[in-house]
Amino acid sequence: LNIILIGPPGSGKGTQAPIIKDDLCLCHLATGDMLRDAVTAGTELGKQAKAIMDRGDLVSDEIVIGLIDDAMKQPECERGILLDGFPRTSVQAQKLDEMLNSKQKSIDRVLEFKVNDDILIERIEGRRIHPASGRSYHTKFNPPKVDGIDDITGESLIQRKDDNAEVLIKRMGAYHGLTAPILDYYRQKNILKTIDAMAEISQVGQQIHESIYNKI
Ligand code: AP5
Ligand code: ZN
Repeated sequence: LNIILIGPPGSGKGTQAPIIKDDLCLCHLATGDMLRDAVTAGTELGKQAKAIMDRGDLVSDEIVIGLIDDAMKQPECERGILLDGFPRTSVQAQKLDEMLNSKQKSIDRVLEFKVNDDILIERIEGRRIHPASGRSYHTKFNPPKVDGIDDITGESLIQRKDDNAEVLIKRMGAYHGLTAPILDYYRQKNILKTIDAMAEISQVGQQIHESIYNKI
């Protein structure tokens, strides 16, 4: 099963992804996490991406397509992939189809995380992440057991550099201008399902579970 999660910044993709991944034994591919890892590691790619991410613009199609192409070669990805944050432009969507077609594969389901823009600022400002795993928490909506500490590793949580009001406006602009238009591409293929991502975290999970199992 190959699934794509599409939604604006802070809509809950990264929160739901680990649950869906474990449920269906998929390989979770999050371009945002991969890029942040490259920034932390200080690679050439990371150096190029850092300034772009910090100001809330999209990194070039070429860079992210390269990352996904490489990541899909992992043997774990043979069972199926869960894409989080990719594709984000029509060029990326087309390229993804080509990559999958060449392996006689295709996308089975696209889940749109639908939210009103005005709730996103609270989600973004309260988010804390565990950088090594990409796990995300929220000070109010999904607090860790101990303030500022990852539940699983005991390591410290941090705030993302792009999680502030000013950069959020840029990220939302990129979403509405470049990413939301690709929803039509998947709607026409009849694989798009819209999730009410304003609901509580557990209810969003429930909707996703139903939407996936109802059609298998
Ligand atoms: P990326 O890391 O993908 O960021 P994003 O798309 O902006 O999405 P977020 O990670 O902010 O949101 P999310 O939906 O995962 O929310 P989460 O579950 O954490 O990309 C970062 C940057 O990298 C981009 O700006 C770009 O520069 C670059 N990039 C990445 N991919 C690219 C690509 N393909 N092409 C080009 N550039 C690319 O939830 C948010 C908060 O809300 C958390 O605190 C969470 O606990 C809380 N929460 C979640 N669900 C709920 C709920 N239902 N109710 C209440 N709170 C909730
Ligand atoms: Zn995310």
